[in-house]
Amino acid sequence: MVMTDLDSGVPHAARMWNYWMGGTDNFQVDRVTGDAVAQVYPEIALMARHSRQFLIRVVRHLAHEAGVRQFLDIGTGLPTMQNTHEVAPEARVVYVDNDPMVLAQGRDLAGSAATYVDADYHDPERILAAAASTLDFGRPIAVMFMGVLGYEPDLAVVRSIVDRIVSATVPGSHLVLWDGTNTTPAVVEGAKRLAEMGGVPYVLRSPDELASCFEGLELVEPGLTQITHWRPGTDSPEHIDAYGAVGRRG
Ligand SMILES: C[S@@+](CC[C@H](N)C(=O)[O-])C[C@H]1O[C@@H](n2cnc3c(N)ncnc32)[C@H](O)[C@@H]1O
Repeated sequence: MVMTDLDSGVPHAARMWNYWMGGTDNFQVDRVTGDAVAQVYPEIALMARHSRQFLIRVVRHLAHEAGVRQFLDIGTGLPTMQNTHEVAPEARVVYVDNDPMVLAQGRDLAGSAATYVDADYHDPERILAAAASTLDFGRPIAVMFMGVLGYEPDLAVVRSIVDRIVSATVPGSHLVLWDGTNTTPAVVEGAKRLAEMGGVPYVLRSPDELASCFEGLELVEPGLTQITHWRPGTDSPEHIDAYGAVGRRG
C-alpha cells in the first residue's frame, strides 16, 4: 500500500484500529497514540481482536443459519482480516466508509467481490440510494454498525440513523451492532487519553443505551451481551468493555 500522501502526522481512526487489531497499515503517529491509549487501557487490543471474532461469528450465523444473503457494513474500516465478504463469500456485500484511504485500499483488496460506497453515516439517504445499485431492498439485508457509532456523540442522532436504514429493509432483515461501553473506569480513561492525544473522540455508551438502538426488533439469542459472550469460541476472556447484539426485523 502506498501511504506517503496520507501520512498527515495526525492519528487516524481506521489506522489505529488496524494497529490494535494487529494489522500493518498504520503510521508511527497511529502506533504512538495507540500505545498511549493502551498504557491506560491495555485491553484495547483485545477488544479490537475480539470485535473481529464477533463479526465472524455473527456473519456466519446470519449467512448459514438465518439465510441472509446481503450485508450492508457501515463504517467498514481498513481491510484487516476476515472481512465480511470473505466470511460470507456467496453474499452480496456493500461496504460504506467516509475515509478515502479505506475506500481505496478496500476496493483494491475486495476487487469485484464487494462494492464500496463513499458516504458518511449521517447521510442515510445517500447510503440507501448507493446501496440499492447492489442490494435488493425487497429481500432481507443485514445492516452492520461495528464499533463506529461512538463517533456521533448524540444518542438520539445515532438512533435516528440506525432507524432510518433499518426501516428501509424488509422483515427478516437484521441489525448487527457492537460498541465500546463505559463499563469500567479504565476504558473511560482510555477514551479520554485518545482525545487528549489528538485522536477522533469516541463516545462510550452504556449497555442500556446500545440496547435502545434495537427497539422494535427481536433480539436473537443471547441478546445484548459482551461481544465475547455472543455464541463464544473457547478463548473468550471473562470481561470486555464492548457489547453487541443481533436484532431481527419481524
Ligand atoms: C474503528 S474503525 C473500523 C471498525 C470496523 N467496522 C471493524 O469492525 O473493524 C471505524 C471506521 O469507521 C469509519 N467512520 C467513522 N465515522 C464515520 C462516518 N461518519 N461515516 C462512515 N464511516 C465512518 C472510519 O473511517 C473507520 O474506518
